[in-house]
Amino acid sequence: MPVIGICSGKGGVGKTTVSANLSASLSNFGSVIAVDGDIVLPNLHALFGFEPATTLQDVLIGKASLRDAIYHLRIKDFSIDVLPSRSSEKIDGFDDVLRELDSIYDLVLVDIAAGLNVYAITPMMSCDKLYLVLNPEETSIMDAWRVKKVIDKIGVEFGGAIINRYRGEKWAVAIVEKRIGSVVGIIRDSRAIKKSWEKGQIVTALKPEAKVSEEFYELARRIIGENVKLKPYGKLKYLLRL
Ligand SMILES: Nc1ncnc2c1ncn2[C@@H]1O[C@H](COP(=O)(O)OP(=O)(O)OP(=O)(O)O)[C@@H](O)[C@H]1O
Ligand SMILES: [Mg+2]
Repeated sequence: MPVIGICSGKGGVGKTTVSANLSASLSNFGSVIAVDGDIVLPNLHALFGFEPATTLQDVLIGKASLRDAIYHLRIKDFSIDVLPSRSSEKIDGFDDVLRELDSIYDLVLVDIAAGLNVYAITPMMSCDKLYLVLNPEETSIMDAWRVKKVIDKIGVEFGGAIINRYRGEKWAVAIVEKRIGSVVGIIRDSRAIKKSWEKGQIVTALKPEAKVSEEFYELARRIIGENVKLKPYGKLKYLLRL
């Protein structure tokens, strides 16, 4: 499997939330490592509930081995490895780290910084496939469209769009499919996610039976190529949690 990257136009759309929960869901199918490739504002470890002593940056400056910076987490039924980051400006060598991880794990998932500066583009270029997280709002769709143009330009394969914080906006699914490309996942807006951030625990482990956790699982199945039909639902279904 390839190295997959989770990116976005606008910040705060849910890349880290998706990265953590999706990597957990994907770990049902093989060995997975989630890499905090957002070296500007790294916080993937926070959602996994730990404070790292050693990080990717220690590996990049030669202060630690890759093995020392990888945290093996056993969260309920999930077994997942995480390579955390701390805020830094050094990004050289990141590509080599990803290639090494690619030779060890079935799947490497990278949480990438928002936007289109060097700290976003460099990790994006190191991925084999990129997924775009966006919210069902015009401005977010526009920003994602701009990033999609850049993805096409740098020649990395586009895996699809992930619409996060969905509250039944079927119109947004149609627009994203028309302007950006296929929608590979719909993740609802969920209070359980806010709580999960407060607790430092992924929602897929905290509430595996919740609709939102099911949606992460379906997204994981689509990403590994299973034929799971996407069913955009309207506001009523969202509100009634049907
Ligand atoms: N599906 C959701 N339902 C409800 N709240 C959500 C959802 N996804 C994300 N959030 C909220 O949005 C906040 C930002 O999410 P997250 O940190 O994952 O975004 P991000 O794109 O990684 O941000 P940044 O660009 O700063 O890295 C979270 O703290 C969480 O409370
Ligand atoms: Mg983030």
